[in-house]
Amino acid sequence: MKAVLLVGGEGTRLRPLTYTTPKALLPIGNVAFLERQLAWLASHGIEEVVLSMGYLPEPFRAHFKDDRFDNVKLRYAVEESPLGTAGGIRFAAAGIKERFVVCNGDVLTTLDLSAMIKFHDARKAKASIYLCEVDDPSAFGVVPTREDGEVVGFIEKPPREQAPTNWINAGVYVLEPSVLEGIPDRVNVSIERETFPKMVESRKALYGFHWPGYWLDIGSPEKYLQANLDVLNGLLPRESTAIDPTAQLLGEVVDSVVGPDVIVAEGAVVERSVLQAGSRVGAGARVVDSVLGVGAKAHEGAVVVDVSLVGDGVELPRDSRVVGGRIAPAGYETQAQ
Ligand code: GDD
Ligand code: MG
Repeated sequence: MKAVLLVGGEGTRLRPLTYTTPKALLPIGNVAFLERQLAWLASHGIEEVVLSMGYLPEPFRAHFKDDRFDNVKLRYAVEESPLGTAGGIRFAAAGIKERFVVCNGDVLTTLDLSAMIKFHDARKAKASIYLCEVDDPSAFGVVPTREDGEVVGFIEKPPREQAPTNWINAGVYVLEPSVLEGIPDRVNVSIERETFPKMVESRKALYGFHWPGYWLDIGSPEKYLQANLDVLNGLLPRESTAIDPTAQLLGEVVDSVVGPDVIVAEGAVVERSVLQAGSRVGAGARVVDSVLGVGAKAHEGAVVVDVSLVGDGVELPRDSRVVGGRIAPAGYETQAQ
């Protein structure tokens, strides 16, 4: 079976990390997010994956040698300008003639995809959407259904008080190729705002598969940190190393993920944080609830706390303080939150 992975969005909420590393390639427990997603898809019989890309396509090709990941064959569909989620699927799925799977490129899940495909086939659905339950649905596509799963509405990011249910679009779909016919070619179309709401109008076409297991969208700084802590706590399958064996830890490191070639100097403290490959924490520095990007350095005595993101290669001077900040590499603007 084939799958399309939507990895073309800019991941703006994870700037500055995503200025240089696409969201789908950010490490979660020292394994690139996309590798986790591909391993999960492969475990449910997916053999070929089209990466639907726009923003920063090159790092993907560099990451996957020979256009493969284990036994999964990779193809690349690169948009010249953003086509949106439905436009991206239509463009990437050109040539796919049998039912296929689509995933947002930022959802970590233990969904039983095989069970969802059976559910889809049993109902002869045109499209099935994986639904999960969250406390606050206002940041998601909200999807009320009938008892048998038939979708009766699709409301993208409604105000909280207008959400009819806490079950949301979890960003994994099973689609019949006929869905593609309803999406215009090479224009920006949103599956959440256009395609699905339109499909709701015809009966017995669109179904929701309720699945209560682990689910997380890694797309915000808090959730990116949470995903890494969840890996440490064993909530996700697939091998993970909390502390890469090439890291040198002289200071104190608690509940954190530490990548290859990282150095944490004496007297430094790192808590609930992610130190990406080659980053450094100088003597006496503190990094708490924060991320140091690839090769970033917090020099002696620096303090990086309260969900700060320090971009790839950034050097924080001695005794500097970053509190809930976003520090971009030279040449990229630093965004306020
Ligand atoms: N190829 C391509 N082209 N991909 C895109 C584009 C585009 O123009 N725009 C966004 N994407 C990709 C992103 O890279 C991401 O993997 C996925 O589409 C979803 O975009 P996000 O920006 O992460 O959307 P969201 O998290 O706000 O909302 C979506 O996900 C929620 C679940 O996490 C929606 O699908 C919601 O309905 C859903 O509840
Ligand atoms: Mg998202």
